[in-house]
Amino acid sequence: MEVVIVAGADAAGRLVGGAIADLVGRRPGAVLGLATGSSPLPVYADLARRHAAGELSLGSARAFLLDEYVGLPPDHPQRYRAFIARELERHVDFAPGAVQGPDVRADGPALLDACAAYEAAIAAAGGIDLQLLGVGSDGHIGFNEPGSSLASRTRPKTLTDSTRADNARFFASVDQVPRHVLTQGVGTILEARHLVLLAFGAAKAAAVAQAVEGPVTAMVPATALQLHPHATVVVDEAAAAGLALAEYYRETWAHKPDWQGL
Ligand code: GLP
Repeated sequence: MEVVIVAGADAAGRLVGGAIADLVGRRPGAVLGLATGSSPLPVYADLARRHAAGELSLGSARAFLLDEYVGLPPDHPQRYRAFIARELERHVDFAPGAVQGPDVRADGPALLDACAAYEAAIAAAGGIDLQLLGVGSDGHIGFNEPGSSLASRTRPKTLTDSTRADNARFFASVDQVPRHVLTQGVGTILEARHLVLLAFGAAKAAAVAQAVEGPVTAMVPATALQLHPHATVVVDEAAAAGLALAEYYRETWAHKPDWQGL
């Protein structure tokens, strides 16, 4: 695992946006894994800026969302599919149909078919090259809440009260935050070729310290990153505050050979 401590969210956006631009440049048809929440927004802003400057085309790229709420009306602005359309897609040049999320239109057991179809679609695209991740204050990734199997696949999950409270800021009240979601599993996420987790602010410090330096446990799903051969954690100073080896990470980054990339 590589930990990069940056000055702030904008610097993180430039760094990770640059890595995505490099990936798309060297691998036409690259497959991105997109996260929602506030943490990836600086990356999406950087991709929009590169596209506007004529430096980046996502015209041949494809993308898969990490997760989606179940039960929101199709036109609800907080659906993750709508979030990605608003924050990224409308500012870049993905081809029509190139971005997809789990299909939550089904009801009841048919949701399981939608999960299997989603796994099959990711596999048919050749797997995800670079997966963006945020982390919940309880250590969840995607919507894999504490206790999620580290081998889990895309499936329905029930949100914890703490995650619903965290996400209530996007809704009129906590009662409107859905209880159910579909999410890529931890095992699904671990199959992406490069994982990039972003976290900013003191509220993420404990989750980041556990994810990077704590024991691997289903109780903190983000600790699964320790099992991945190419995981990058990009944090600001506040989110890095609980890291025992922070000085080592700084030293390593400062002396990283240019040819290695992110
Ligand atoms: C939600 C999303 C996660 C995200 C988390 C943290 O639960 N499903 O993918 O990582 O929120 O969000 P934020 O980045 O806004 O702190």
